[in-house]
Amino acid sequence: MNLTAMLLAAGKGTRMKSERAKVLAEAAGSPLVAWMYETAIRAGADSVVAVVGHQADAVIDALPDSVVAVEQTEQLGTGHAAKVGMKAVNAEPGNVVLVLPGDMPLIREETLELLVDHHTKTEAVATVLSVELDDPSGYGRVVRSNGRVTGIVEDRDASETELAIAEINTSVYAFDAAELGPALDALGNDNDQGEFYLTDVIGVFVRDGKRVEAVIAETSEGAGVNSHRQLADVSRQLRTRINDYWMEQGVWMEDPEATYIDAGVTLEPGARIFARVHLRGATHVAANAEVGPDVHISNTSVGAGARVWYSVIRDADIGAGAEVGPYVSLRPGATLQEKAKAGTFVEIKNSVVGAGSKVPHLAYIGDTDIGSGSNVGAGTIVANYDGYKKHRTKIGDGVRIGSDNVLVAPVELGNESWTGAGSIITKDVSPGALAVSRAAQTEIQGYAARRRAKAEREQE
Ligand code: UD1
Ligand code: CA
Repeated sequence: MNLTAMLLAAGKGTRMKSERAKVLAEAAGSPLVAWMYETAIRAGADSVVAVVGHQADAVIDALPDSVVAVEQTEQLGTGHAAKVGMKAVNAEPGNVVLVLPGDMPLIREETLELLVDHHTKTEAVATVLSVELDDPSGYGRVVRSNGRVTGIVEDRDASETELAIAEINTSVYAFDAAELGPALDALGNDNDQGEFYLTDVIGVFVRDGKRVEAVIAETSEGAGVNSHRQLADVSRQLRTRINDYWMEQGVWMEDPEATYIDAGVTLEPGARIFARVHLRGATHVAANAEVGPDVHISNTSVGAGARVWYSVIRDADIGAGAEVGPYVSLRPGATLQEKAKAGTFVEIKNSVVGAGSKVPHLAYIGDTDIGSGSNVGAGTIVANYDGYKKHRTKIGDGVRIGSDNVLVAPVELGNESWTGAGSIITKDVSPGALAVSRAAQTEIQGYAARRRAKAEREQE
């Protein structure tokens, strides 16, 4: 048996009232449609076909290259979408198509496996995944007669008695690939919306005397996203799953409800995450690293035993035992090697801070390579931009930069060199030398007394 997952992802999602196609809305860092893809693959799909339409290019970009995208140029309904999708499906007898909407990220792989298993075991031609809801309004109802599924009726087309049915269609189905195409060809669009409804194939199969089954899933898994409220609810549940997973793996969390970890993040057992931490993209946190409180990190590796608090970190690399924060901004290309430090109110961009080197207070370091064991004085600024071009600065090993320096790039400070406080360094400094560039201090004796006398004269 060959299993193809078909993602229906051509719709606009009008009810979201946003520019972006609904299936691109993000939950826990991934677009809804990407969640659907991941779950389908984990459930054993051999290949994935996506029916795209609204913002087709962006939807294709949100999915791996292995996905075969088929365009539905006009959104004529879910039945029409499935028909378009079938063009890319191997419809040999024995093959199964797992149809999924683009907006149901809480569905679990185990549930999809169960659906496909049930479908093949019972030799049904179609198996619907349903859930039972206290408030089924808005959904298609699963109509049964003597316990057997006989059809699905959409909310807007339902009779009074049908509206009272609590079992609803999740829009997830397993179909025999060879049977689905002909059933879709038989669909009409004589309904309230004038659309071709995928749900109507159930009635077509039953009329033809073919076997239809339904598997009732856990209620929460059937939650679709039609509003920002629902998107927030679904996101919270995905976050809970992610956090529970990492806690099971041995990660400590101070406050899981206030911890925001994207699906692509990896953590090692022994990592410690304090409250209000956002870990985004491809971030990795190694064992015994402490992150938070109040940290936002994206696409960054945090080394073993490193400590990061009250800071914003993007596309950076934090070495083992390094210290970051409070109030640090690490921008793309900032690398802190082992045991390096970026302290209070420090911004670092596209620079390397070598092993054990420290930038402890109030500094801007841009386009700079700092060797090991160096110290950058409080208030030091690397002037890396001349108004037209950026230039690199090199600071060697064991360098001592005084407080309140400006290093005008390009400039090189040799190993073991020193600079005096308040210096503006425009020329290279030789290894081991002290560079001072500021006016020598002079004194004017008796100044205070003369100044006071002048003020008193003016008052008379
Ligand atoms: C659909 C089902 C309904 C079910 C509900 C569950 C139909 C007719 N109804 O209704 O029984 O209870 O889902 O959420 O199928 N799509 C396309 N092309 C189209 C139309 C839709 O690709 O022409 C895609 C959408 O992007 C979406 C999915 O199909 O991912 C479902 O469409 P949606 O409009 O959300 O269907 P509902 O009206 O919610
Ligand atoms: Ca829907």
